Amino acid sequence: MQFERLTYVSHATDPAESVMAASDILEQSVRKNPRNNITGALAFTPSRFVQVLEGSHGSLDVLLLKLAMDPRHHDMIVLARIPIQHRLFSDWSMIAPVFTPQGRARLVALVADQTPPFGALNELIYEMWAEQGSATARSPSPEVQ
Ligand SMILES: Cc1cc2nc3c(=O)[nH]c(=O)nc-3n(C[C@H](O)[C@H](O)[C@H](O)COP(=O)(O)O)c2cc1C
Repeated sequence: MQFERLTYVSHATDPAESVMAASDILEQSVRKNPRNNITGALAFTPSRFVQVLEGSHGSLDVLLLKLAMDPRHHDMIVLARIPIQHRLFSDWSMIAPVFTPQGRARLVALVADQTPPFGALNELIYEMWAEQGSATARSPSPEVQ
């Protein structure tokens, strides 16, 4: 089956509550994504969410419809949706990497742009995840894009 990687950004509806929202969203995603064979990563600043989703075309379409109706965020922009041979986050139904201070500063700078470059976002999120110490994650993926 052909898989795709989709990267989007959105605006948090309640910036004061976005950390709490992210923790709920993470819990919900970890619970639901396995049954849809979706993997990915979630990053957030007080005002914005960035999510990388990997899965089949159909499962991503279904999730996109749900995401579009979710009141916890708005103004979703899909930055990229590309066919992939390998998942970046294959072991994770959804991971929210812990950002280093430098990584966080890069994330904040990237999402200051209304439509940030998806390659830089994917790379940064993957890098933050890899820095957390999974031995298998240490080698940079040949196809972060
Ligand atoms: C930023 C953000 C990311 C989300 N990511 C996922 C996800 O990866 N998987 C998922 O099932 N739901 C995710 N959700 C929740 C969905 O929008 C939706 O609430 C949930 O899938 C509802 O599923 P149900 O209609 O089957 O109960 C996310 C919501 C937000 C705001």
